[in-house]
Amino acid sequence: MSNVKLELDGKTIELPVIEGSEGEKAIDITKLRAETGYVTIDSGYGNTGSCTSEITFLDGEKGILRYRGYPIEQLADKSNFVEVAYLLVFGKLPSASELAEFNKLIADNSELPEGVKKIIDSFPSDAHPMGVLSSVTAGLSAFYPELLGAELSASEQTKAIAQLMGQTKTAMGYFFNKTQGKTPKSTDANLDYSTDFLSMMFNKDGEVDADVAKALDVLLILHADHEQNCSTSTVRNVGSSHANVFATISAGIDALWGPLHGGANQAVLEMLEEIQNDGGDYKKFIGKAKDKNDSFRLMGFGHRVYKNFDPRAKIIKKACDVVLEKLDVKDPLLNIAKGLEEEALKDPYFVERKLYPNVDFYSGIIYKALGIPTNMFTGMFVLGRLPGWLAQWKELRESGARIARPRQIYTGATERNYVDQNER
Ligand code: SDX
Repeated sequence: MSNVKLELDGKTIELPVIEGSEGEKAIDITKLRAETGYVTIDSGYGNTGSCTSEITFLDGEKGILRYRGYPIEQLADKSNFVEVAYLLVFGKLPSASELAEFNKLIADNSELPEGVKKIIDSFPSDAHPMGVLSSVTAGLSAFYPELLGAELSASEQTKAIAQLMGQTKTAMGYFFNKTQGKTPKSTDANLDYSTDFLSMMFNKDGEVDADVAKALDVLLILHADHEQNCSTSTVRNVGSSHANVFATISAGIDALWGPLHGGANQAVLEMLEEIQNDGGDYKKFIGKAKDKNDSFRLMGFGHRVYKNFDPRAKIIKKACDVVLEKLDVKDPLLNIAKGLEEEALKDPYFVERKLYPNVDFYSGIIYKALGIPTNMFTGMFVLGRLPGWLAQWKELRESGARIARPRQIYTGATERNYVDQNER
């Protein structure tokens, strides 16, 4: 452990430097205000770490992403979503019996309480699924009082994690079928996670194509965690107040909804359709994205951390070709997406700003090919990110972290006296 010296107002203080297992360094400013009266400001927290974590490592310059040390490429190729969820939450790859037990815990707790079904039934069919998921998740708190305590036992915590993974999957299928006027199919404990989801969504009796289920499983793996992004930081903030896990995850869903974050996968599809409806001239839209007077942004491009290719986008782009060929789908939107990428990657505006395709750029093409409606794409991101949020929440609570409470610099009116209405 080394220190840095900070000279302020003629005073020099020493602040400790911490170094992570991958050589990342941070200045620990815990005592800054007490010793200097100063706080720091960092718009969007681009230079500020909120915690130390053992869950996910990413290197934006090198395009590296690892869950508990395992490269995302290997997990996407060799693992499955529930095994990756176990890895994220418990910190190790499960034995066969541990994985079977975790799968069973999810399957045994995937059914929704009748009261929650009534909540979903009460939504209009054109309700956005993210609002439904957020409400359902917070609403589950009314049905499991035994899981609301600030201090859950390890088994209660594990049950809550498994239950949320299962019930969110079921809620997605239940709501989609209600919007289609169909009777929702119940979860089937004999099917793996992704097959069961597709079976419930599209009312199949186990006829789900194994390659299609595998493609979905890979997508869920790729979305499973991504260190301290906007929604995960929200989960940590809410979790730090010792709010129950349902409220904590519901807050994460709300943060993910934004088009600058998880909502981008829906925005990408809408952008591609806009370009297609405008005649398909994607070069024109590259120009719009560069025009500061035009609010148009190239959705699915750019990232706060990745200043090189998002490794997930590379894998998803390859999966696009495989899935569309398997399903014999010819989607002109994929060609528009590839054209946009090709143009942007050689355009100085994007090159200088290191703007590359991110996880959301191609994922919607696959979801669309699977028959998932565009307004449910961000719900698919929720399904994938759930184990990451839950792992980060578990790590936060086990760390005994203090409640999140940032400071500010006040720039408003200085003291003034109240003025009666007749004198204003
Ligand atoms: C996710 O953080 C995570 O880990 C998130 C995520 C995860 O797994 O949790 O990876 C998932 O949210 C991926 C990102 C999905 N969002 C989008 O695809 C929306 C489009 N992208 C942008 O809005 C933007 O790139 C962000 C929000 C992703 C990042 O924003 P930053 O880091 O605040 O960057 P910025 O807005 O300051 O942009 C820097 C420059 C600006 O130009 P200048 O002012 O320097 O001239 O790049 C430009 C921006 O105008 N820019 C873009 C652009 N993204 C950035 N210009 C055109 N199109 C874009 N998409």
